[in-house]
Amino acid sequence: MIILNTPLNFGYKKIAKPYLFSKDPEWAHDKTLASAKTFGNILPARWLIKHTMSYSSNLLNQTVDSLNFQNPLGLAAGWDKDGQAIKLMSSLGFGFTEVGSITKHAYQGNDYPRLTRLPKSKSILVNYGLKNQGVDIIYNRLRKAKINIPLGTNVARTNSKDCADDRKSIEDYCYSIEKLKTTGDYFTINISCPNTFGGQPFHQPDRLNLLLREIETIKTNKPKYLKISPDISNRNIEEIVNLAYKHNIAGFVCGNLTKKRNLNTIYETNLPQEGGLSGAVVSELSNNLIKTIYKMTGNEKTIIGLGGIFTAEDAWQKIGLGANLLQLVTGLIYEGPGLVGLINKQLSKKLSENNYSNIEQARGFLI
Ligand SMILES: Cc1cc2nc3c(=O)[nH]c(=O)nc-3n(C[C@H](O)[C@H](O)[C@H](O)COP(=O)(O)O)c2cc1C
Repeated sequence: MIILNTPLNFGYKKIAKPYLFSKDPEWAHDKTLASAKTFGNILPARWLIKHTMSYSSNLLNQTVDSLNFQNPLGLAAGWDKDGQAIKLMSSLGFGFTEVGSITKHAYQGNDYPRLTRLPKSKSILVNYGLKNQGVDIIYNRLRKAKINIPLGTNVARTNSKDCADDRKSIEDYCYSIEKLKTTGDYFTINISCPNTFGGQPFHQPDRLNLLLREIETIKTNKPKYLKISPDISNRNIEEIVNLAYKHNIAGFVCGNLTKKRNLNTIYETNLPQEGGLSGAVVSELSNNLIKTIYKMTGNEKTIIGLGGIFTAEDAWQKIGLGANLLQLVTGLIYEGPGLVGLINKQLSKKLSENNYSNIEQARGFLI
């Protein structure tokens, strides 16, 4: 039921957002997350939110890598890093949710400020540097929570110079994957955090080969997706795709934040070099990533498309370029939670207007 969605989202835009946007971004995020956690723990609140905000249609339903997705739109990693609010996400209308990034050791995050809003560019400058409570605590929380949509656990290596060499990094990833084997439905292996000690070494094919070879030895039937940077060359994308085939990687999350500062989509000036940019700034880069991978893999691999989804048109374009699943974070912050139901409703309309009976059929229509 979506009838009440429009006034609720109007309320977000006119009341909640001006208030939250007048506060420090991290404070606003922490308060919103705490509210989401509280509502998620109250059954009547979940029921009410579900019946006013979410949208369902058989056209949006699909099975991907043996998982059932009621709709293609998920919450991306970074909003609920420690998995505190996962119980609310299906009520908000998300088809799946991803927690993390999760690392072996807890990390309190890089120095402040770690979040800066760039409203002219519809973007956020993020420099958390993989802040999270560590896999042991997060695992204990996730294993107790029952949710009815697929749950992804996004795993990265601890942000510390003590864990930065290749051997320790690989051990770090494997520890978390081993620990999380019995909870959640898919893994995202995040090799693309832009704000960590030692950079993004696992975009290099020989190092990625070592990492994936080791991960492959961990016994799990859960699909594994690689989250990659939107800043890499087409040649590097090709190398990564080849390794994905070699090591049983089921798909790609396209993509993470950009480190670029010279894009004509950035309207704010004097940005610091530290941190990565989300939202509209990254949209074209992530679209290129999706398109390039889809041209190489067709429907053989899952592509989770994200980066600058603010409207159903943005989402539809990513499906047209080859994504079969979608995620967002920045759109949620700028447009409010009603965006999820609205995008799903409009995607369903686009599918039926174009005579597609599911997303798989529409996938890649622009290629
Ligand atoms: C506040 C914030 C924190 C993020 N933290 C993570 C993270 O911990 N791990 C990760 O893989 N991506 C992280 N991301 C990247 C998002 O998952 C996503 O790839 C990127 O923001 C592009 O999507 P968007 O334009 O919808 O935000 C973060 C993004 C934001 C805005």
